[in-house]
Amino acid sequence: MNQQQLAAEIDRRRTFAIISHPDAGKTTLTEKFLLYGGAIQSAGSVKGKQSDHHAVSDWMEMEKKRGISITSSVMQFEYDGYCINILDTPGHQDFSEDTYRTLMAADSAVMVIDAAKGIEPQTRKLFKVCAMRHIPIFTFINKLDRDAQDPFDLIDELEREFGIGTYPMNWPIGCGVGFKGVYDRDAHRILAFADAHRGRDRLTAIECDITDTAKLDELIGQTDREVLTEQVELLDGASADFDMDAVRAGKLSPVFFGSALNNFGIETFLEHFLRMTTGPLPRRAEGDIKVEPTEDHFSAFVFKIQANMNKAHRDRIAFMRIVSGRFDRNSEYLHVQGGRTLKLSQPQQMMAQERAVIDEAYAGDIIGVFDPGIFSIGDTVCDAKTRVVYEGIPYFAPERFAVVEQIDSMKRKQFAKGMNQIAQEGAIRIFIEPDSGMERVYVGVVGELQFDVLESRMKSEYGVEYRKYPLAYSAIRRVPDGVDPKSLHLFEVKWVQDFRGKNYLLFNNEWHVDNTLRNNEGLVLEEYGRDQQEE
Ligand code: G4P
Repeated sequence: MNQQQLAAEIDRRRTFAIISHPDAGKTTLTEKFLLYGGAIQSAGSVKGKQSDHHAVSDWMEMEKKRGISITSSVMQFEYDGYCINILDTPGHQDFSEDTYRTLMAADSAVMVIDAAKGIEPQTRKLFKVCAMRHIPIFTFINKLDRDAQDPFDLIDELEREFGIGTYPMNWPIGCGVGFKGVYDRDAHRILAFADAHRGRDRLTAIECDITDTAKLDELIGQTDREVLTEQVELLDGASADFDMDAVRAGKLSPVFFGSALNNFGIETFLEHFLRMTTGPLPRRAEGDIKVEPTEDHFSAFVFKIQANMNKAHRDRIAFMRIVSGRFDRNSEYLHVQGGRTLKLSQPQQMMAQERAVIDEAYAGDIIGVFDPGIFSIGDTVCDAKTRVVYEGIPYFAPERFAVVEQIDSMKRKQFAKGMNQIAQEGAIRIFIEPDSGMERVYVGVVGELQFDVLESRMKSEYGVEYRKYPLAYSAIRRVPDGVDPKSLHLFEVKWVQDFRGKNYLLFNNEWHVDNTLRNNEGLVLEEYGRDQQEE
């Protein structure tokens, strides 16, 4: 493959994450993307005719049986010449770091919002991470077929809460039972909503200028026309100008209205979105190097490790985002942190319904490889000749702590192995008291759910049960190297160490952090986060 062909393959890739608060319609929207990409054969909505329902749910059932859920993976499909990688973010009520890491692998994000509910807590958290990475955010306001909040209120809320500009690409005409469709502001077209079609036919937009009152009256009726003209006028006057650079910098979010369940607004969304979002973006590597996707050497970083994708095989998959070049199944690559050259075994991609073994992949793609326990989150895999090391994935400081203690001393080994492996995946943080063994482990998590996951995984994968004692700590700081914690005045503070012997202090709250600093003149404590990446 020559450079031109490589560049063309990479150029047509679009890799984005889809984020939302649970129940806003993320799964439904993802399904519909796949539907339009021709990946799912079933036409019609999930809640459509019985036959349709079966087609989609059977497919979901199949995924479930294989232990892979549509909601936990990465999917690739083709649409209109583009090769699209969707990264689904787990939508637990509880905060999960996994979601944050997934966003590291995306070049843009699609935020789904329930039109009746507006911004919800999970949306807020996810948005913050997207903003931290300055990735472009496209908003899909869903469920217009139900009663919705006033569209102006919705966009106001987005701007106020997130501190970004919005640019409604289209504007809803009514909502709930009175939902008539959307008006495409730039193309001057109306996309009429007909509940009856249920996505069976592709909708044809009707060209219609906002000033053409006669035609509008015919299409949506006089009352809705009057409201629409007034609102569009207001919008044209009030909203920011469309600015592609601002979109790309994550400062302006194009907003679309629609109804995922009814396949309404999906196609226009895809068309605009694919045009506006970028192809694979360069990434920074250590030594202040910027690696461009079209460079001819292969490089990738691991952003997610998932164990037990398939219960029967006990497999562990490391997901990596390809940053540059082309991946070839038959080549050997360097696992930088492991210091070894290896052939990636069973490289696979989720091709909509299938988990397929692949021969090649390109920058922008996500591949999953079998992991015999060698990879950690943030690791780099690359051509041995052109060694690069990607800047690690930031860790989030744990906010909840507990001590877990093994019950059965005969299972000491399994307990230690399980805790270590799950920590290595990045699902939890573990610490021990200085100079003690692994019988009592301090576990730090960001969300309560991680404790539940830990308990069930330890039981099912390692056959170990443990006792858990919740702790009141909520803050953690690292003691800089060279400072001996024994020399510090510590009051109501717990001193623990990680597996590398680095020292940390656990505090009940921020007041105790300040108090410790006051009691130890000259002491500087480090935040938990960027500096704690695997070395
Ligand atoms: P999530 O992945 O963000 O958690 O949401 P999901 O797609 O599962 O959708 C949550 C619920 O909202 C589902 O209903 C889904 O059918 C419904 N929904 C999604 N998009 C729309 C829409 O445009 N309009 C309407 N009216 N509903 C929508 P459910 O009853 O919880 O599940 P199900 O029985 O439909 O599977």
